[in-house]
Amino acid sequence: MGITLPEFTPLENSLWLTLCGKALDSRFDNSILSDTMADEIVRKLDYDCDKFHMSTNPILLIAQRAKKLDEVAAGFIARNPDAIGLDLGAGLDTRVFRLDPPPGVDWYDVDFPDVITARQRVLPERPGAHGIGTDLTDLHWLDAVPTGRPAVIVADGLLAFLTPDDMIALMNRLIDHFPHGEIAFNGYSRFAIWAAKRYRGTQSVADLLKSPGFDDPREPESWNPRIKLVREILLTREPEVAQFPLALRLFTQLASLSAWWSRHGTTVLHYRF
Ligand SMILES: C[S@@+](CC[C@H](N)C(=O)[O-])C[C@H]1O[C@@H](n2cnc3c(N)ncnc32)[C@H](O)[C@@H]1O
Repeated sequence: MGITLPEFTPLENSLWLTLCGKALDSRFDNSILSDTMADEIVRKLDYDCDKFHMSTNPILLIAQRAKKLDEVAAGFIARNPDAIGLDLGAGLDTRVFRLDPPPGVDWYDVDFPDVITARQRVLPERPGAHGIGTDLTDLHWLDAVPTGRPAVIVADGLLAFLTPDDMIALMNRLIDHFPHGEIAFNGYSRFAIWAAKRYRGTQSVADLLKSPGFDDPREPESWNPRIKLVREILLTREPEVAQFPLALRLFTQLASLSAWWSRHGTTVLHYRF
């Protein structure tokens, strides 16, 4: 029997781009993320990933940045086995299955209500995994999340859709809610936002981008005095580059020589509070 999903808004539909990136990466011999569950989802739903015309480069970058965010979350959970995990703008991502956290961890996937309904129809239930259907700019959603426990918060592909004011308000609310924790998200430089508005593969979301992007990884430290940068992860300098096809690998290794140039591509920003 087929699965019927709620009708998504254009903003919710942005989840297909990243899901397809992970699904297509998993089909490569040298897959970065090996998210075969993402591939099972697109196949089960008969979703046409070809319509994004994604070349190898964006597919690998989507997979690589997801892997970096997984690493941050996994490291935190290993040190805090009673942690709360939050995936903001989770879409249909299978992160909680990739991480497979131990029983003491509660993991919350947060996205618009129709996306959470879709997750419930598409993904299996898992002990300790919860969905919260909300607009993230309505900050009351955090009332449903236990306080008093350390938290690791990731956001993969979300930031570009929030205004700077919404982003700062969200960060402040999260930081007030938990005693301490870590936050990681893929950063969008001003150039990355400029490029996303023009790149063919992201045309479906070009009009929805509300963030101007920022270039200085320390900028969030000015949003809240508790935020401290742990690491700016330049993807050009990460070990997965060795798995890239030859021409892309050589180009990426060249780009890695310059932090300035590398920031024009994909970065993952990791903070603690
Ligand atoms: C590009 S998708 C990324 C999905 C997922 N993180 C992934 O990596 O596959 C962006 C997601 O953010 C969600 N989103 C954007 N703005 C949001 C908001 N204000 N409140 C809740 N979710 C939001 C969208 O519904 C979508 O699922």
